[in-house]
Amino acid sequence: MKSRELSRVGIVGAGQLGRMMALAGYPLGLHSVFLDRGKDSPGAQVAETLIGGLEDPELLGELAARSDVLTFDWENISGKALAPLSGSIAIRPPAAALEIAQDRLHEKALFTRLKIPVTPHRAVDDLAGLRDATRLLGFPGVLKTRRLGYDGKGQFVLRGAADVELAWDLLGAPGLVYEKFLRFSREVSIVGARSQEGRIVSYPLTANTHAGGVLRYSVAPYVNAKLERLANTYLRRVLKELAYVGVAAIEFFVVGGRLIANEMAPRVHNSGHWTIEGAVTSQFENHMRAICDLPLGSTRPTGHSAMINFLGNLPDRRRLLAIEGLAYHDYGKEPRAGRKVGHCTIQRARAADRDKALAATLKLIEWT
Ligand SMILES: Nc1ncnc2c1ncn2[C@@H]1O[C@H](COP(=O)(O)OP(=O)(O)O)[C@@H](O)[C@H]1O
Ligand SMILES: [Mg+2]
Repeated sequence: MKSRELSRVGIVGAGQLGRMMALAGYPLGLHSVFLDRGKDSPGAQVAETLIGGLEDPELLGELAARSDVLTFDWENISGKALAPLSGSIAIRPPAAALEIAQDRLHEKALFTRLKIPVTPHRAVDDLAGLRDATRLLGFPGVLKTRRLGYDGKGQFVLRGAADVELAWDLLGAPGLVYEKFLRFSREVSIVGARSQEGRIVSYPLTANTHAGGVLRYSVAPYVNAKLERLANTYLRRVLKELAYVGVAAIEFFVVGGRLIANEMAPRVHNSGHWTIEGAVTSQFENHMRAICDLPLGSTRPTGHSAMINFLGNLPDRRRLLAIEGLAYHDYGKEPRAGRKVGHCTIQRARAADRDKALAATLKLIEWT
């Protein structure tokens, strides 16, 4: 018997990730409807949007009633808000996967259980606990909120004992984690998709450059067979354990030729944006395929890509589009300092040419 076709996708949150998912769905005949607070949000500009709180029970119910499957642009929706829907609609990725990824401590516990190395860390709930953690793990270290941190928000780097009280003044509240600050040689990530039947595909390793906790640019493929095998093994363990359906990413630090897991994202990921032009099937399309029970597409890279984030403002598109093979993405957001408002991707047949084009393009971009 042919299974029911899933073609109406309800997306919780209408940020740029949701917008790029919806856009990837159209050619496949998949229609998205969003739930978001803002009627001008990036997703609302490209698909119908229910306006209101992301955890509003009535609106979530309406979103579910109008969809065949629910998925997420914003991964911080609580399991409690989703629970009433779980009998009536497929929720992909599953709520349990979201819940683990919402808490840095639970995420690290999952990695450890799956024998994936993590940064040495301690839970911190009060000032005495922070002192103990710094004594145990030393300096420098990073104090992070366990929940709701993104783009380096909710983090403070401690250089020495003199910073302990300042860090506590800034972030002090129960629900923190103190981590050793790792001197990594680089940051890489792996993005992959798992289908309901358990098929897993993954993109080549991507090398990521951050500043101030925010991703500036990514380069892919990052060619290192050993690290790529390892990243794949780790990603597979996590996706299988969570009975995951959809696209997910894991961020790693490379330390002494080993991978140390930093965090996971239970969704499409900024370091996978290059796949729109740089792979046979983009991460957004593969997410839509996975959650709608369609065959996963090829993750093969079609060249050597670089993706640069536009932060705070959009660079002049006329100037950028004059660069050969450059793809420009404007998310339709109001400019604001530090905000991700768009990105561009360049692709070249050879890695060395990609690196040259990346350097030239970076000169035209001002992060504010
Ligand atoms: N323990 C650490 N050691 C070194 N750098 C870190 C550490 N934790 C975070 N960072 C830096 O800050 C960036 C953002 O931190 P991350 O934990 O990924 O939080 P976010 O959820 O904001 O992305 C990382 O990509 C990395 O560059
Ligand atoms: Mg991160």
